[in-house]
This record gives sequence, C-alpha cells and structure tokens, in this order.
Amino acid sequence: MIVAGVMSGTSADGINVAIVRLRGRRFRTRLELLAHEEYAFPAPVRRTILSFMNAKVPVADLARLNFLLGELYAESVIRTTEKHKIDISLIGCHGQTLYHQGEAAPYLGRKISCTWQTGEGAVLAQHTRVPVVSDFRPADMAAGGKGAPLVPFLDYILYRHYRRGRIVQNIGGIANLTAIPSAARPENVVAFDTGPGNMVIDAVVERLFQKSFDRDGRIAARGRVLERVVDEVLSRPFFRRKPPKTAGREEFGREFVSDFVRSCGKVAKEDVVATATAITAESIAYSVRNLLPGMKAITPKHRRLPFREIIVSGGGAKNVTLMNMLAELLAGLKIARTDDHGMPSDAKEAAAFALLAYETWFRLPGNIPSATGAVHPAILGKISFP
Ligand SMILES: Nc1ncnc2c1ncn2[C@@H]1O[C@H](COP(=O)(O)OP(=O)(O)O)[C@@H](O)[C@H]1O
Ligand SMILES: [Mg+2]
Repeated sequence: MIVAGVMSGTSADGINVAIVRLRGRRFRTRLELLAHEEYAFPAPVRRTILSFMNAKVPVADLARLNFLLGELYAESVIRTTEKHKIDISLIGCHGQTLYHQGEAAPYLGRKISCTWQTGEGAVLAQHTRVPVVSDFRPADMAAGGKGAPLVPFLDYILYRHYRRGRIVQNIGGIANLTAIPSAARPENVVAFDTGPGNMVIDAVVERLFQKSFDRDGRIAARGRVLERVVDEVLSRPFFRRKPPKTAGREEFGREFVSDFVRSCGKVAKEDVVATATAITAESIAYSVRNLLPGMKAITPKHRRLPFREIIVSGGGAKNVTLMNMLAELLAGLKIARTDDHGMPSDAKEAAAFALLAYETWFRLPGNIPSATGAVHPAILGKISFP
C-alpha cells in the first residue's frame, strides 16, 4: 500500500510530505520511502500559528485555521503526488499542535490531560479524493498515555538492531529521543522529550536577528556559551523528571524565552544564540547520561555501554554547531544522521504518520505504551472519507 504522511511540527516552519510504500503488518512492516517534499508555510500563516499557541484567540479564528490548514495540507500532498507521479491510497496527517498537556491538571473540578491538533481531515480527504487518518494523539491519552511520542513505532521498525543498542534523537521544535536496546522487544523501548530542540533557538534568532532560524548554526558558531545560564536552565525540574515525559510551548515557549534572554544579561547577541543552542545539546546529553540506564559512564574506551550509537533527525540535524556540541558532549557514542541510514532527516516524522495511518486503516494499534505511558495499545486517529 502506498501512503502519504503529512507532518507540520511545533516549529511551524512548514509542511513535510513523505510518500512511502508499506508491506507487512505491525513490527514486521517494511517501509520504503518513495518521495519527500517540504513546503514552507507562507509567513503570515506561520506567524498566526505561532501566535495561537498558548494564547487567547477568538474561537472563530481557530475554526478558520482548522479549515485553512486542511487546504494547505491538501495542496502539499497534491503537489507531491503530481511531481513524483505516484498514486496514493491513504493519507496520515498529524495536524498542527496548538496545545499539548501530557500531564493531568485540575480543571473544573476534575483532573484533565489534553491535546489539540488542528487541520481538518475532511477537507484534506475531499480535496485529494483519498481517505485520511488524522488526530492520532487523543486515543493514546484516553488510554492513559501522554499522547506523545508516537514516532517510536517507526523508530523501532527502522532502527532496532540485534546486537547494538541505538538512540534515535529527533530535533524538531522540541527534541525527543527513542532508546532501543539491542534485540529489544517493543515493550523495552523507552522514549521521551529531552527538552527544547530548535524552538528556543528559533525564538531567540527571531528576536535578536529578525531571522526565522539560525541556518547551519552559523550565528551560534560566532558566539560564546554562557555556562552559568546553561546550568541554571538545566537545573529546572523538567530535565530531572523521569520518563515518560513530554514538553511543548507550554514549557519552552514565549515565557521561557523571555526569562532566558533576561538571564543572559548584556552580552553579544551571538552569545545568546550560542547559549540557546547549548541548552538543546546539553539537555540531550543530560538525558542520555542520566535518564537511560547504564549510560552514566560514557567514554570512548567504554565497551559495554547499552547504547553505542545515536542517530539524529529533524531540522536540528542540519545545525552544524548543535551537532558539533552534541558530538563533543557525547564523545564515546557513534553519532550519525538518519540520512546516513537512508531516511532524510526531515522526512522521518512525516513517514511515521504514514505508517501510523496504515496501522489504523487495518484496525491495529500504533502507540508504544512504554513510550507514552498508556495502559494498553490503542488504535490511533479518526478517519475521514472523500
Ligand atoms: N539548515 C538548517 N540549519 C539550522 N537549523 C535548521 C536548518 N534547517 C532547519 N533547521 C531548524 O529546524 C527547524 C524545523 O525542524 P523540524 O524538524 O521541521 O521541526 P518541527 O517538527 O517542530 O517542525 C527549523 O525551525 C530550524 O530551526
Ligand atoms: Mg517542521
């Protein structure tokens, strides 16, 4: 079956479309990437999405954005299938997260955890004439999970290894890792958000340099890391909390960035960007060392580590300064990008939602309970027919 996956992440940089061929079922599924394209959001759309996260917004505008995104997703899929001349039978669309709260918190006398991805599946199905699975996260949360991360299912299929334990690290707006021990069964997979990915870097670069991101990490490369600020940020309770755990703009959004810039004080603008970049690298390294069992003593000579390899994906894999910092902090681990394993780093998450849609289409579960904390596997998403 040929399936398109559509992803637009918390960076709100744009829409990734991956077209994959899938054979087999569950953990034996074989996935072949046929095409991948990325479409940047028009600037006003990006600005609107970012401004809607964590804000008081008229409900009419939320409804409008839901339908507008359905159209933008459809155009992205159609452009991709036409360009590559591929017919698809199903679409899996993650949607745009506007709010995610993995932990239950008091609300109107009850304790509620919740999530909200927008981008209307019915619109996408009508325009493309293909059935759509969308809104994947609520079913996992209804089953007691945190609704994230959902990509570990794909990570397990693509990267499990009989002899080698592997860490798969995605650096999107938020950074999250999937740890797959050697010869792991699905229930041995551990996955969680390590903290900010590009989100803080993007916000700082926008404020100080009026650019949407730090291309190749060039600005950060010119700055000096303020270790004092890095230590201060890393002492926050989020980083120490044991997995499963999730993060979003609720933790690392506007308020966090304002505090962060203030703590940097009067220094060169490049130093602030370098420090934001170091927070991402250090929080990943901290998570690898302290939140994965048996990883405290990473050294180049250590031969018996449970995980010896880290494979990086997401837009952050293109940030050279960030990758250099990571390589230095995790010297002793072999560091690679998913590109080195045949999956472009910006196609992986989109491919994951194609796979999850495929599971749902056959009434099979797509969450990994050890990753999300759900009490049982759940069939994810809602189906819209053209
Ligand atoms: N060439 C690059 N150099 C540095 N950073 C990049 C580059 N390309 C993309 N990025 C970063 O990656 C982000 C997008 O990553 P992505 O994996 O799409 O995240 P999300 O899933 O949150 O949308 C951009 O906002 C930017 O910060
Ligand atoms: Mg993106």
